[in-house]
Amino acid sequence: MLRMNINNLIKIFFLLVILSIEIGQSLIPLDRYSTSSILIDKKLFFFGGETVHNLKPSTTLDQILYLDVSKPFNTVNPPFEELPNTIPFGSSYAIAFPSSQKNVIYLFGGITVNVNTDLDDFKSILHSYNLETNQWTIPTTSGIAPGRRREISGVINNNTGKFYAFGGLSDQFTGTPNNTIALNDMNIFDINTLAWSKGSTINAPLPRADYTATLLSNGIIVFIGGRETNAFRDVDINQLALYDTKVDKWSLMTARGVTMENRFLHSAVLTPDERIIIFGGRKVPNDDPVLNQLAVLNTKMTPYEWSIPQVPAIDNMPLTTSAHSATLVGNYMFINFGQITPITNPQIQLPFFYILDIRNFTWIIQFEPEKSTIDTTSVNKSPSNSTSNSPDLPVEKSDNGKQIGIILGTVGLSIGIGIVVGFLGYKYYKKQKYKHAIPTAGSPTI
Ligand SMILES: *[C@@H]1O[C@H](CO)[C@@H](O)[C@H](O)[C@H]1NC(C)=O
Ligand SMILES: *[C@@H]1O[C@H](CO)[C@@H](O)[C@H](O)[C@H]1NC(C)=O
Ligand SMILES: *[C@@H]1O[C@H](CO)[C@@H](O)[C@H](O)[C@H]1NC(C)=O
Ligand SMILES: *[C@@H]1O[C@H](CO)[C@@H](O)[C@H](O)[C@H]1NC(C)=O
Repeated sequence: MLRMNINNLIKIFFLLVILSIEIGQSLIPLDRYSTSSILIDKKLFFFGGETVHNLKPSTTLDQILYLDVSKPFNTVNPPFEELPNTIPFGSSYAIAFPSSQKNVIYLFGGITVNVNTDLDDFKSILHSYNLETNQWTIPTTSGIAPGRRREISGVINNNTGKFYAFGGLSDQFTGTPNNTIALNDMNIFDINTLAWSKGSTINAPLPRADYTATLLSNGIIVFIGGRETNAFRDVDINQLALYDTKVDKWSLMTARGVTMENRFLHSAVLTPDERIIIFGGRKVPNDDPVLNQLAVLNTKMTPYEWSIPQVPAIDNMPLTTSAHSATLVGNYMFINFGQITPITNPQIQLPFFYILDIRNFTWIIQFEPEKSTIDTTSVNKSPSNSTSNSPDLPVEKSDNGKQIGIILGTVGLSIGIGIVVGFLGYKYYKKQKYKHAIPTAGSPTI
């Protein structure tokens, strides 16, 4: 009798799965933060994340959601869909970036747990998901892979096929049980040769986590904000650390313009005219919200200049979100998920969804895909359809000749046209139920 019921349930479940695939039934996602996002073709994917509302024992999600951005929708009821394939582990604070063919998504770093036991399930710093076969694998790489870390940001240089991930944090959730160690090494992964290498550490910033990294078209990565070593004091957001990927050199620049409030776990996207738009974040040491959550860094002048755009708030917008993802979709900055800070009651967390029109800084509720969304990603398309690493990140051909435009972003990060930005993570709130490992003066932080 019981067995019958279970069998029936299983059948019904699979019918529902099939139905939802065929009809493309959308779902109301759980709230989550520290999710990795990546835009491929016209699908915005969200990998994993943390939520206290998970239906599985772990707070870390193995779910892959996506949103079809080729269709209009309303942010009040966005048509999220769930892939039937999950990540083979719970994943949060990871960075998603594409393979050179754009048919594979790499998931780098972050927390990896068994979703049923909530125990660490680390197997590799890098996993790959093939969009054509739906297979997860651990890629075979050469060179010395970086150690485990999270709360990092990464970028990919579309000219060279090199992915850069600086610093981050290693702690009890990523392999150093009794210590929290901030890092300041520059790790480089070549998506063409699958080789790891190290960048220069001369003049590198102090060990740092929860910053954003944004790659400009001139090959310079701009590091903004975050938290520094020594019990996590905040980084002066007006002091920009720059890494020139062309010559493997670090430098510092004092930004002019508005003196900004420091922040960490914010996000950043690069506009086509090379302004970096940052959003959200929170402050050391009490996770207070920042006053101006939206700010713009103009990189077309030297030194770069901070300004705060006058943007009317939209209804019900929380004071600040942090540990969200930000992705540029054409002329729209998508802000998804994240946490309200300070975190008083996890029950009030929602699957936040805001869209900013970057042309005139207006929040929109109704998303209408623009022709230019597609055009933008195709603008710099090489006439060649070779499979060599095209400098034109956004567009490449897959095996079946179908064009895949890519823009990717991750938690707290984003990419502009052919520019990737990395990720931010923050895991102190991971185990809301029993592991309040918030770094305070008394806890064993660095
Ligand atoms: C961490 O600390 C605990 C308790 O002091 C100890 O038993 C354990 O061996 C330590 N683990 C490592 C990896 O040092
Ligand atoms: C990415 O590719 C486009 C098109 O070739 C180019 O204009 C842009 O400068 C590149 N960006 C970077 C950071 O290399
Ligand atoms: C912002 O710009 C877009 C595109 O030009 C336009 O459609 C929209 O009406 C503008 N919004 C406001 C409030 O001006
Ligand atoms: C692109 O692919 C087509 C069809 O396979 C081929 O005829 C053409 O020569 C290719 N172009 C380049 C520039 O490789």
